Amino acid sequence: MTDAVVAGGGLVGLSVAWRAARRGLSVTVVDDAPGAGASLAAAGMLAPVAEAGYREEDLLRLGLASLASWPAFAAELEAASGMPVGLRTTGTLVLGFDEDDVRELDALLRFQRELGLTAERLTPREARRREPALTPRVRGGLLVEGDHSVDGRAVHAALLAAAAAAGVQLVRERVAEVVVERDRAVGLRLTSGSVVRAGTTVLALGAHSGGLPGLPALPVRPVKGQILRLAGADGLLQGTVRALVRGRHVYLVPYGDGGVIVGATVEDRGFDARVTAGGVHDLLHDAIEVVPEVEELELAETLARWRPGTPDNAPLLGPSSLPGLVLATGHHRNGVLLTPVTAEATAELLVSGSLPEVAAPFTADRFAVGTSEGDPRCR
Ligand code: GLY
Repeated sequence: MTDAVVAGGGLVGLSVAWRAARRGLSVTVVDDAPGAGASLAAAGMLAPVAEAGYREEDLLRLGLASLASWPAFAAELEAASGMPVGLRTTGTLVLGFDEDDVRELDALLRFQRELGLTAERLTPREARRREPALTPRVRGGLLVEGDHSVDGRAVHAALLAAAAAAGVQLVRERVAEVVVERDRAVGLRLTSGSVVRAGTTVLALGAHSGGLPGLPALPVRPVKGQILRLAGADGLLQGTVRALVRGRHVYLVPYGDGGVIVGATVEDRGFDARVTAGGVHDLLHDAIEVVPEVEELELAETLARWRPGTPDNAPLLGPSSLPGLVLATGHHRNGVLLTPVTAEATAELLVSGSLPEVAAPFTADRFAVGTSEGDPRCR
């Protein structure tokens, strides 16, 4: 019997386990391939302002709180693991390729300012002074000094080491179901048939959180994203470049020694793992429009994974309708950004029984679950 068992060893599951173990709990994580889901594809953007969405003010507040936690979280993780996590604090450029794209950026800037957020309008010349590799054809941009990035795979590797050092047990097996006894979750059954019994079960299975036997219906669906990893870009970009290219979004996120991640498609196609010719074409086409030298880089990796989407694009945190089951899932486009705040809030809930205020708007009871078709809907 362990205090907590976490289903899922991605960034969210491992960080919850690490923080809970650091606060004195015994914790087991179950995952047959830790870090092989959305964590493997994540670009690592910490960009709540650049990604601020209309009618998503609660999510923005959560994102800003997590962004503020990132420097200390990264420093503590690096100290605990002895491994770098690649936090870049160089800000984010958001570019418009043509006049229509710039008009859309101006609307985004007005919205950001209404919310009291800090972003600065740049002329094409100012944008190129910051990032000399940009095409002269870019028509304008915004600088978001406060939006950063981290190397998602490096964070995951560091979390594996830090969690182990804190005493977290990692069971490399697949979760078969949540075990429910007398209307309470009491642990996880693994596909081998063995059971990990726990005081609290934490669900952190990302896009796979919706379909586990033993669970109440959860409004989580897979949202496919294709990404590319390019190599040989040492010094090409200082920080994240996001762009609207004739109405289509693309981002370029530098990491490590000369790596650039180009992303991402957003597709409602279920668990389709195919990397498609069209997906790669569109991403490369738009990336080359914005940074022409991308044409010379090595195409090192292509990958498709699934964001855990929810009806309001915000995560599911805290207690569920099943006693003994805690949710840490549904992070959609913001898994890396929201890792520290999810870890702290969930660890606090596990230790004290109270969910911190910042996480309170994100409990699953904000959805009315169970229409006649069984479809979860926003209340
Ligand atoms: N946050 C980046 C993405 O979901 O593609």
